[in-house]
Amino acid sequence: MNTLELVSKGGASIIIIGGDSRKFLQGFDPARTLVLADENLLTYHRKKFDSFNIISIGAGEQAKSMTRAIELYHKLLELEVDRSWTLIGAGGGIATDLSGFIASTYLRGISFAFVSTTLLGQVDASIGGKNGVNLDGFKNMIGVINQPAQVFCDIDSLSSLPEREFLAGFAEIVKYGAIRDPEFFEYLERNIESGIKRDAKVLEYMISRSVKNKIEVVQADERELGERKTLNFGHTFAHGFEKLYKIPHGEAVSLGMVLAAKLSVKLGLLEAEKAERIEKLLIRCSLPVSFKWEVEVLAEAMKKDKKRSGGSISFILLKDIGKAVIHKLEVQTLKTVLHDLR
Ligand SMILES: NC(=O)c1ccc[n+]([C@@H]2O[C@H](COP(=O)([O-])OP(=O)(O)OC[C@H]3O[C@@H](n4cnc5c(N)ncnc54)[C@H](O)[C@@H]3O)[C@@H](O)[C@H]2O)c1
Ligand SMILES: [Zn+2]
Repeated sequence: MNTLELVSKGGASIIIIGGDSRKFLQGFDPARTLVLADENLLTYHRKKFDSFNIISIGAGEQAKSMTRAIELYHKLLELEVDRSWTLIGAGGGIATDLSGFIASTYLRGISFAFVSTTLLGQVDASIGGKNGVNLDGFKNMIGVINQPAQVFCDIDSLSSLPEREFLAGFAEIVKYGAIRDPEFFEYLERNIESGIKRDAKVLEYMISRSVKNKIEVVQADERELGERKTLNFGHTFAHGFEKLYKIPHGEAVSLGMVLAAKLSVKLGLLEAEKAERIEKLLIRCSLPVSFKWEVEVLAEAMKKDKKRSGGSISFILLKDIGKAVIHKLEVQTLKTVLHDLR
């Protein structure tokens, strides 16, 4: 078990990685705690939350909507939830994004915590205070930055996570090494198979080191004015892949990071051998690294991304393994380079 702390303007979070979820949950008053839980999580782990009021939020990206949030506000009213209550969001990024948003807006904000139960949620979504919902097919359009009081990364619950969802989390783990932690990247090159085999000790270390990286970035730049943008490495392409080809987020990030690393090489920023190291590591995680995309379609999808300003798109590129830079590209230049890369 590992305990880390995040302190920022949006509040302070205690983040516990590993250990017994029952012990963590004992800290909450059953009469004044409501668990908003992912439907699939409840199928396997409902018992963990037995002593609390539980509401299923459903599952999947469609649950992260204003419509679902409004349905849940009504349920909170029925239960007479007031400012003395705590909301616990339990599940992956869908459950934590949605419940963090509800807790931050209901009664202008009540106390909330997360039990994070997907690898991607543990290393990324549950950390950093971004809570929100999608609108009209655009991701995370409505939201707030507000830190949960506590986050419990429930490693034990990963046992029921489907393999494909589990592996998707490794894309974000590799990302931290690639953008800011070269020592961690080398550690991953030596130990990735043990993590994939779910070796508890190795997994705990990989999650803790990822969370530590995310905490440092968020503390330096909570509102994403500078350094926090580097967490979007691979994501501008990824959002295009997700939207166009319905590829799951982690897999899209893997494809996006490989493409961004190749783009970095093409622009003379990164040595080709380093882009290959990233690609090889992702292959070892059984993540996709190539895909038959259409240049025009992908470029058009990225034009609609939030990272766009005027006629150019901001990309996070690499100068080295562990050194990310923000780079603006004109849409026309992007199309030319994409044609070359394809
Ligand atoms: N807030 C942030 O900073 C941030 C960062 C990254 C991603 N996100 C968001 O996170 C979401 C993706 O999160 P995710 O990958 O965790 O997806 P998810 O929440 O949909 O979970 C993936 C799948 O696993 C199931 N599940 C969850 N826990 C389980 C368990 N222990 N056992 C069995 N099944 C389980 C879910 O029902 C779902 O089918 C996206 O909406 C993304 O935008 C947010
Ligand atoms: Zn991501």
